[in-house]
Amino acid sequence: MCGIVAYIGNKNALPILINGLRRLEYRGYDSAGVAILNNGEFLSAKSVGKIDNLATKLNGQDLAGTYGIAHTRWATHGGVTEANAHPHADCTGKIILAHNGIIENYRELKEELGASHTYKSETDSEVLAHLIEIYYKGDLRKAVLEALARVRGTYGLVVMHSDHPNTLIAARMGSPLVVGIGDNEFYIGSDASPMLAYTKKVIFLDDGEVTEISREQMNTVNLKDINVAKHVEEIEWDEAQAQKQGFPHFMLKEIFDQPTVMADAIRGRYNLADGIAHLGGLNMSLEQMHSVKRVVLIACGTASYAALVGKYMFERLAGIPTEVDVASEFRYRDPIIDSQTLVFGISQSGETADTLAALKEAKRKGAFVRGIVNVVGSTIARETDGGVYIHAGPELAVASSKAFTNMVAALLLCALQFGRINKLTLATGQRLLNALQEIPEKMQIILQQSDKIKELAEKYQNCRDFFFLGRGINFPVALEGSLKLKEITYIHSEAYPGGEMKHGPIALLSPQFPVFAIMTKNQLYDKMRSNIEEVKARHAPIILLATEGDDKASELAQDIIYVPPTMEVLEPLLNVIPLQLFSYHLAVALGRDVDRPRNLAKSVTVE
Ligand code: M6R
Repeated sequence: MCGIVAYIGNKNALPILINGLRRLEYRGYDSAGVAILNNGEFLSAKSVGKIDNLATKLNGQDLAGTYGIAHTRWATHGGVTEANAHPHADCTGKIILAHNGIIENYRELKEELGASHTYKSETDSEVLAHLIEIYYKGDLRKAVLEALARVRGTYGLVVMHSDHPNTLIAARMGSPLVVGIGDNEFYIGSDASPMLAYTKKVIFLDDGEVTEISREQMNTVNLKDINVAKHVEEIEWDEAQAQKQGFPHFMLKEIFDQPTVMADAIRGRYNLADGIAHLGGLNMSLEQMHSVKRVVLIACGTASYAALVGKYMFERLAGIPTEVDVASEFRYRDPIIDSQTLVFGISQSGETADTLAALKEAKRKGAFVRGIVNVVGSTIARETDGGVYIHAGPELAVASSKAFTNMVAALLLCALQFGRINKLTLATGQRLLNALQEIPEKMQIILQQSDKIKELAEKYQNCRDFFFLGRGINFPVALEGSLKLKEITYIHSEAYPGGEMKHGPIALLSPQFPVFAIMTKNQLYDKMRSNIEEVKARHAPIILLATEGDDKASELAQDIIYVPPTMEVLEPLLNVIPLQLFSYHLAVALGRDVDRPRNLAKSVTVE
């Protein structure tokens, strides 16, 4: 996720672009850049870090002009450097663009363009400028259309050409773009917030649309260059609502981001024909991978529950003994680690002090140390010898949601990669990948039940205690559901494996102590069912998570949330979503500060 702002009109573009970037900073802020046409030439400035760094750098520079483009970056391909910051240019310097998304086939395209093109960055985006360069024969829109026909991936794209100071091209496929309409001027933004100070009239581009904008008008076509009628909408949102894309909280937006970012996490990282994952960033030779006899997953909080899911995956798919350690415990118990141990540090922020310290300890003891991290260029990403970025995009709500599912997806791909070089069959690899491809769509089906889950949450809002139960690969999901509830509602809750209840916790049950039980159709279904019967016999209210088509679920509970079926090893990717929504809606019902719950911080950089 990155942020794009562009302007074409008669005002001085620079303040519009910089203020616009500040509004979009929530979309990523590892580097930023701006380019403005001045006397027929693009003048640009770039800087690493937040928009303030760019603004400071621009102090005293004369970037006057009425036609410009700006970008705030959330790195995916290529590290956090000025060279990798957008906008990017072609070889002539006349074409300039900002891109949000991922160009999956950028390596092939670069190879095809050959050595005559010089690249200044390591990004996937820059190849687009060079592709447009070769198709450009005087008509910028046509060149962009021809270039996009060659691209596999996602884009929110804005392109300018110094020979066409009254033409701006914008295109969308999978990454949002909004056009704001002023008086003989147009604004572009990744959301409406950069333009709300100037206009409320907007047009939302849809996937597969390319629009050509001059100061006087805009004309939109599809990828086949056929005109598309667009209608102008009057926007009611304030700036904060626009940043949240109309969702009342970042947490809800991030829960709803999951189908999209899940697709980003897996895209281009597997080969269906071979039933295998390819995670080049792991930076391990086949020989090194074969030498791994043990995996240790180190993390805190939500990341540690993703790690517990990863343990099931590594053991089941790759047959490698796997342990999970809470980072703050790992270093103080003199862990047995050697050169045949592969240690993963899992972290959304990549800055968690405990995880970082544990990884240093593992490195000191000679293990392979790798990261599974969201924030590109973060300390854990830099201090490990390789790893996997989870591509969840910025997660701003303190309570983690989309990072969990993308961590699980990254762990699955790792386990699959190791599995296929060990004992996992081609057929199982293929079955898994086919099922994984269906996950984003199945996530959407669950998200459509948000209103129903809200009603359930409101029904239980006066309860002061909850149990979350799960078994097998769903026990970590129960732990994560329980953590979400604690964090944002401040209600006491505990998670147990279903089979443990009778060993003590069952004593707590009463009609005032609801149990949220995960009973999806898997190899432990009958066992879990018996555990829920035990709960029912103690008259505790039951909220059941069951698989669509499970007719028997209604014998156990009245409050049931159904999820689509999937392979057992993938169930956490779906089952966690109703739990996230339940906590979210309950917190809203109680009037809690959902995005910034008390006593917590997003990034815990102290021990
Ligand atoms: O940035 P990290 O993933 O390393 O953070 C780890 C935990 O602090 C984090 O998951 C925390 O538990 C969240 N508040 C969970 O919602």
